[in-house]
Amino acid sequence: MATTVRSFSKINLGLYIGPPRPDGYHHLATIYQTMELHDLVTVSATPAAESSITLESNHPSVPLDERNTVHKALQKALKVLQKPLKLHTKIEKNLPVQGGMGAGSANAAAALIALEAELNQQLPPAELHRIAGETGSDVPMFLVGGTMLGIERGEDTFPLPDLPSFQAVMAFPDVGVSTPQAFRDWDARSLTQPAENDRLIEFRRRVSDAFGKPGVFRKNTENLAENPLLALVRTGLENDFESVVFSQQPSLRALKSALEVDSIYAALSGSGSSLFGLYSTEEEAIRAVERVEKLGCEARRTRTLPRQEYWQQMFS
Ligand code: C5P
Repeated sequence: MATTVRSFSKINLGLYIGPPRPDGYHHLATIYQTMELHDLVTVSATPAAESSITLESNHPSVPLDERNTVHKALQKALKVLQKPLKLHTKIEKNLPVQGGMGAGSANAAAALIALEAELNQQLPPAELHRIAGETGSDVPMFLVGGTMLGIERGEDTFPLPDLPSFQAVMAFPDVGVSTPQAFRDWDARSLTQPAENDRLIEFRRRVSDAFGKPGVFRKNTENLAENPLLALVRTGLENDFESVVFSQQPSLRALKSALEVDSIYAALSGSGSSLFGLYSTEEEAIRAVERVEKLGCEARRTRTLPRQEYWQQMFS
């Protein structure tokens, strides 16, 4: 038998980089939002004399060995399960491979979720979260879905009251951005001072003001006095990566401007290179696609995916 799940993507609604940590990572604070655009991940598990992991993909630039986050996550899961299994995973790519939408991280989380379903056995929750966090900073958020606050390396994730679903447009420029390099460039510009921690704390305070305390669900977001995203946008929402990535790839600035027209909010996602715009209506989103395509860039229309739909649609 085999189990297929939708491996949904994410964007970052604001991303603030803090000081480097002793382990080489950076403190950060961000709001993650899951998106409807997805890959498909299929896991099959069969008892065997010895454990093995094999991968296949329809995309030529997906590594099929230990470098793949799916391989890393499954290897860690096998250690916890302590029974020899032959695991085969198929990754059907639809998302850009190096794009700021967290596709590689999403695939790893999807493989863990598919493995649990395939075995009809749950990994102990603490182990599942440890495996996800060790596999990559953006992996644990895909075990939650919806709108989330991410802190520390990004792996410490708190569910926020879900934002209503927005129309969205993704722009996929034909350039790759290396995340470690983008962090190094941020440091090289000496932008990271100890005081930068204050910006992280200030951002968390504003998130708390807009959404209520992280981790506390409010049942009905519609009843909040105001859409929390609008409240945050009004007080200013930034992605720190834009300052380093846009200066190296000036064409991305024009794409952001094209997405910004009529938008609630538009920005680079993660370290890029994908950018997004969020809109109230389909018409606004359709016009944004046209503007981005006029600049010679691939554009896709999608929407943000609230938590309940994230889990409902994952297996459907
Ligand atoms: O955790 P992940 O493997 O996705 O991170 C990729 C790289 O990005 C890390 O090796 C590190 O160089 C950088 N990074 C960082 N600070 C973070 C997250 C990632 O410096 N909070």
